[in-house]
Amino acid sequence: MIVHKKPEPTKVPGFWEIPSISFPIHIAKNFAKHVNILPDVEYWSPFLNSKTCNYLRDIFLESMILAPVSINGLMDQSYGIGSKRATGWSLQLSDMLSEFIIPHLNEKFCSAKTSTDWWQENPKKNQAWLPVQVSPLFRFMKYESGGEHYAHYDAGFMYEDGIHRTLKSFVIYLTTNQSGATRFIRNHLEDIDVWDRDHSDWNRRALKEEVLYSFLPQEGSILIFDHRICHDVDVYLGEENLPRIIIRGDIIYQAKSL
Ligand SMILES: [Fe+2]
Repeated sequence: MIVHKKPEPTKVPGFWEIPSISFPIHIAKNFAKHVNILPDVEYWSPFLNSKTCNYLRDIFLESMILAPVSINGLMDQSYGIGSKRATGWSLQLSDMLSEFIIPHLNEKFCSAKTSTDWWQENPKKNQAWLPVQVSPLFRFMKYESGGEHYAHYDAGFMYEDGIHRTLKSFVIYLTTNQSGATRFIRNHLEDIDVWDRDHSDWNRRALKEEVLYSFLPQEGSILIFDHRICHDVDVYLGEENLPRIIIRGDIIYQAKSL
């Protein structure tokens, strides 16, 4: 059993208690996994069907909760607004998504070169991890024209029990857009042990030649990747005056040998 602690709402800008969800989550009829694009990156497209994406978009937009996030990912607007975010909490949505995501994920075996937070607070250096649940903390993000997010690394969340932690991020695309791709960025850190790497956010836009792979937002698709793989959000050009809307979440793993 994982003990989930809801964050203190007053301490999280844009905190949003996601209301009870009255609609079912439906998987797309032509659900397809594309797993060998990049190491430790999975792309399932399509994953959720269009009706489910509509519902999820609507509850987010109806919440009217939109805290600004700058292009370096901080709540500091001096860098310019990259996106607007609601930090949502829902055990129900976590359970609903877990049912469709967890059975498709494999056990994870980590090494010194694995780009995720498996090694901290891990005295026995347990390397084998089992996927168990989607985290109940979700970031719903809306990018308007001109929005972007410089290259950065996501971080894991460690539970107090010492057994559970998040090892992977996911992005569910709730809109289809012609720009604003999630891009994986070459950073030349792959030969350095993960505990010696500099995971600071970038303070400049990535160059074209630094881009390993781009995923344009495709409604209903999901991208799942190890937290510490370098990635950014390319400038969203705001075609057709529609926003780019995504859900950012995390996958919780359990130490296998404990
Ligand atoms: Fe990220």
